Amino acid sequence: MHMHKRTKTNGIDAAMKIIFYENGADLDAWLGGLRRELPDADLRVWEPGDTAPADYAIVWRAPRELFANRPDLKAVFNLGAGVDAILEVERKEPGTLPPNAQLVRLEDTGMAQQMVEYATYCVLRYMRRFDEYDALQRAGRWEKLPQHARETFTVGVLGLGVLGAEVTKGLLALGVPVRSYSRTPKTIEGVQVHAGPEQFDAFLDGVKVLINLLPHTPDTEGILNARTFGRLARGAYVVNVARGPHLVDADLLAALDQGQIAAATLDVFHTEPLPAAHPFWTHPRVSVTPHISAETLREESIVQIAGKIRALARGEPISGIVDFRRGY
Ligand code: NAP
Ligand code: GLV
Repeated sequence: MHMHKRTKTNGIDAAMKIIFYENGADLDAWLGGLRRELPDADLRVWEPGDTAPADYAIVWRAPRELFANRPDLKAVFNLGAGVDAILEVERKEPGTLPPNAQLVRLEDTGMAQQMVEYATYCVLRYMRRFDEYDALQRAGRWEKLPQHARETFTVGVLGLGVLGAEVTKGLLALGVPVRSYSRTPKTIEGVQVHAGPEQFDAFLDGVKVLINLLPHTPDTEGILNARTFGRLARGAYVVNVARGPHLVDADLLAALDQGQIAAATLDVFHTEPLPAAHPFWTHPRVSVTPHISAETLREESIVQIAGKIRALARGEPISGIVDFRRGY
């Protein structure tokens, strides 16, 4: 028995208790990995009706009931970067989340590289007009289109956090001008940084590809709207890889009709799966992917979360704690 990995509860030596919930996950693989990393922990899959004590919860889109009446819970680990689903539960019914529990999001765990790949693909596809050549091929037409000038094919990245920072840096390698927008000021070599609402228009003006990597909060909901689109370069492109509610769907469809937006690639939607009748499915200039731009990688996530649980058990600070007031 490794005493240092045990916690004292009511004077009795007890293994730390961890509940796990992810609907549809490969539970054997998750539990096997977590047991390997935390061999002394008492780990169980949470099921409705389970009100037994727990020190830590590892969850993705868990029902409200999982959190209720758990004053002992020290931390909730969210199996994703975005914590909007959990915070929405709390916004709708304040007091749902255990009062003393910290909420911890995944930090990168292999998602940044996937986002860099997705964003790079979109920028190259639009800059080199592969989307238009696909349409020309389907029409059986041999036609050379004028090339976009790389120097003016400005990419603007909304959000300069764990993922946005890596995406902006990755895009610099393409030789396009790269701009960023965050809440607080930052510096990244080679990137034209903007921060705060007063710099939002300067960030948008003339952007050719707008990539959204903001968290979904009350401040950012609907940020991809007609006004935003109107400030971009004529015939701009929109890539939404953050959350569906960032986008005003009707405004995008109108901007596509008007030619203000040339095309869009969307990975996230107000309702997922995207309903069969939604016009995005069949729009010739909208590309749809099923929320796969950056997937939660099991092994990387297990190692990161287990490391943080060990640190917390030793009384050490950890990173990735969500600020409830900011909403991310
Ligand atoms: P993060 O580290 O929390 O970074 C968030 C960034 O957004 C920060 O730079 C922050 O500014 C900025 N921001 C927040 N509120 C803002 C506001 N009101 N105005 C301007 N900037 C604001 O998040 P992340 O790990 O990069 O992830 C970003 C989002 O991507 C997640 O929340 C999630 O929704 C989405 N995501 C999607 C997928 C997918 O598969 N589609 C996968 C993973 C993540 P500061 O730097 O000043 O704080
Ligand atoms: C996925 O969408 C995440 O937030 O990690």
